[in-house]
Amino acid sequence: MVLVAPSMLAADFLRLEKEVELVNRCGDLFHLDIMDGTFVPNISFGFPVVHAIAGAAKKPMDAHLMIVNPGKYIERFAGEGISMLSFHLEAAREETGALLEKIRGFGMKAGLAINPDIPVERLFPYLDSLDYVLIMSVFAGFGGQKFMAESLDRIRTVKEEIRRRGLDVQIEVDGGIGRDNAAALSDAGADILVAGSSVFKAEDPCAAIEYIRVP
Ligand code: DX5
Ligand code: ZN
Repeated sequence: MVLVAPSMLAADFLRLEKEVELVNRCGDLFHLDIMDGTFVPNISFGFPVVHAIAGAAKKPMDAHLMIVNPGKYIERFAGEGISMLSFHLEAAREETGALLEKIRGFGMKAGLAINPDIPVERLFPYLDSLDYVLIMSVFAGFGGQKFMAESLDRIRTVKEEIRRRGLDVQIEVDGGIGRDNAAALSDAGADILVAGSSVFKAEDPCAAIEYIRVP
């Protein structure tokens, strides 16, 4: 069984309290997408919204930074009570190792995210010093995109390496996920599935979460 992390990017912000309660009741984690308009072409939301969600969240918060200079904000996210914090390998480059260590130093789980056009082998040197990898199954930047089926092989490759080295590293997958691909993703080795549109746009969001958790 996988954990389901509803992506708040797809929530109805006019009814944020109701949406947070929905995740408290039916989800496993809050997935918070932070976009800066520079690393990705889109801007999502920032600290005022994270703070509001944090005040009502009863499930752990998982923040996904799609920003340049992710190191600049690690302490602030820790201060908001974030449990899991990931940033993109493409944004951090040679700072990657130091940032993972800094995230852990603040008591958060450290995650490394990667876009679909970067070979997953680029994650391997960091597997000993992180808690989870975030494999993007769409290009980071927008909700509601189509799942890229090539992601399944990428998950298998990373899972195999984690097993071979006997590591305790989780695989989170993000983008275009719903009931049609959840079974294949968990078979391939995913531990956490992020879902935005398929949850918040569903007639029955709790049922949609359950279909992803137990496909
Ligand atoms: C994309 C974000 C995703 C997105 C997922 O850049 O990282 O978390 O919100 O949304 P859906 O599930 O609609 O693809
Ligand atoms: Zn995300």
